[in-house]
Amino acid sequence: MSFYAKHILPYLIEKAGRSHAILDERRRWVPRAHGEVLEIGVGSGLNLAFYDPARARKVTALDPSAPLLARAAPRARAASVPVELVEGDAERLPFADASFDSAVMTYTLCSIAHPERALAELRRVLRPEGELLFVEHGLSDDPATRRWQRRMTPLWKRVSGNCHLDRDAGALIRAAGFRSDDLTAGATAGASWLSFTYQGTAHANAG
Ligand SMILES: C[S@@+](CC[C@H](N)C(=O)[O-])C[C@H]1O[C@@H](n2cnc3c(N)ncnc32)[C@H](O)[C@@H]1O
Repeated sequence: MSFYAKHILPYLIEKAGRSHAILDERRRWVPRAHGEVLEIGVGSGLNLAFYDPARARKVTALDPSAPLLARAAPRARAASVPVELVEGDAERLPFADASFDSAVMTYTLCSIAHPERALAELRRVLRPEGELLFVEHGLSDDPATRRWQRRMTPLWKRVSGNCHLDRDAGALIRAAGFRSDDLTAGATAGASWLSFTYQGTAHANAG
């Protein structure tokens, strides 16, 4: 692993994820997770303080980055729900079918090499009535911003841990066989190429 990936990128990811606007989204969505919870791409663990012990029984929090998991460890210990940190890849989840009630994914789909594989895995490990909670930045609805996002992504992903600016998270989630009745998408605070956000809950389609 390069010096950049081990020391600089984890710091930058953690710093970006602590903006007021992003913390507000965490506070809004994460407490809704219930039962056995899987969080993919937990990163430095910035969501862990927001789980509600009255709803979440246990959080299994997965990420492929050992340096980010090291940052998450003190937050896992301080959380008010039991948290198990797992080093792993959301494209190959090391869990049995139908083992979670909720899945949480915040600012993660942008960075996964094959997001459609990770979403298929989430469908597999969620129980039939399970709920996916998501807050993801991605492709803007403004044509000028989209052009910028498409132009910048090849460079941006090289310095940001493979973060793509130009993914339509809503379309990816639907294509994976989930439906969402409350998905909202729009620009939040900050630079428009980075702040266009998809958020909501999704459930697997029957069948
Ligand atoms: C921008 S960070 C967001 C971290 C965290 N979700 C948050 O809200 O602060 C993207 C995260 O996705 C993780 N990631 C990248 N590829 C992944 C994969 N294949 N499976 C699971 N997580 C992945 C990265 O290690 C990183 O922690």
